[in-house]
Amino acid sequence: MKLKDKVVLITGGGSGLGREMGLTFAREGAKVGINDIRPESAQNVVTEIERAGGKGARSFVADVSSSAAVKKMFADFLAAYGTIDILINNAGIGRTREGSEVIGTADLPDEDWHRMLATHLDAAFFCTREALKVMIPKKSGRIINLGSIAGTTGLAFASSYCAAKGGIISFTKSVAREVVGHGILVNCIAPGFIETPMTAPIQGPMRDAVIAMTPMGRFGEPREIASAALFLASDDASFMVGQIVSPNGGYVI
Ligand SMILES: NC(=O)c1ccc[n+]([C@@H]2O[C@H](COP(=O)([O-])OP(=O)(O)OC[C@H]3O[C@@H](n4cnc5c(N)ncnc54)[C@H](O)[C@@H]3O)[C@@H](O)[C@H]2O)c1
Repeated sequence: MKLKDKVVLITGGGSGLGREMGLTFAREGAKVGINDIRPESAQNVVTEIERAGGKGARSFVADVSSSAAVKKMFADFLAAYGTIDILINNAGIGRTREGSEVIGTADLPDEDWHRMLATHLDAAFFCTREALKVMIPKKSGRIINLGSIAGTTGLAFASSYCAAKGGIISFTKSVAREVVGHGILVNCIAPGFIETPMTAPIQGPMRDAVIAMTPMGRFGEPREIASAALFLASDDASFMVGQIVSPNGGYVI
């Protein structure tokens, strides 16, 4: 087991990549806290982990784009587990409105911009700040942030999402330099297009275009991201500092 008794918090763990990382980490012996804004989703993943024989999983319902909610979540988390070894900043949204409406930058309302930035970038900062308060004194820890190829290469009609993910990549590099001397390793995963509920609305010609632009000719599977996260969380990644690991099927080379 690569993560025996490690205490992990995964934000947005109730679906997609977060769920898969939760199941994978629990199989490797970790005690996993599953955060989500949707109580049922978080609880369902905890139940799945328990059914698979995982021990010590708990759900933590909070909106991680709120500083106050994150502070409360960490208080609850530390009361439950006493520490945190690994933080995965994964919570995210692909769009700020229901339906398939695509809004260009020229028409993007302030509230959509702010919500996208808050859900990804504010949340990563709020959770990292709380985690470091525990990790710095104990001189160890891992933080893994979810970026995206949207943050490395840019995607049209997604400027707020790309800005948020680009911000997360720069945030990763800065914090990695800041805390490496405290024994804390901060890295980022920048996935390409992966089959999850977030990408489910990408259908028809849009889906065909993504597949055509991906040399592997397919979307990725959540386990192909969870395996990268497991590597970055484990002792195998002991020399990885501020890196952007990008499983993307060749979309960005
Ligand atoms: N799926 C992809 O192709 C892909 C590619 C690159 C990056 N990513 C990133 O990976 C992460 C996970 O994406 P996914 O595909 O698993 O999406 P998903 O929609 O399946 O899961 C995201 C989860 O985050 C939760 N969430 C949203 N806002 C939240 C908030 N404010 N507080 C707490 N929880 C919140 C949602 O309820 C959901 O359960 C995101 O950061 C996403 O941007 C995904």
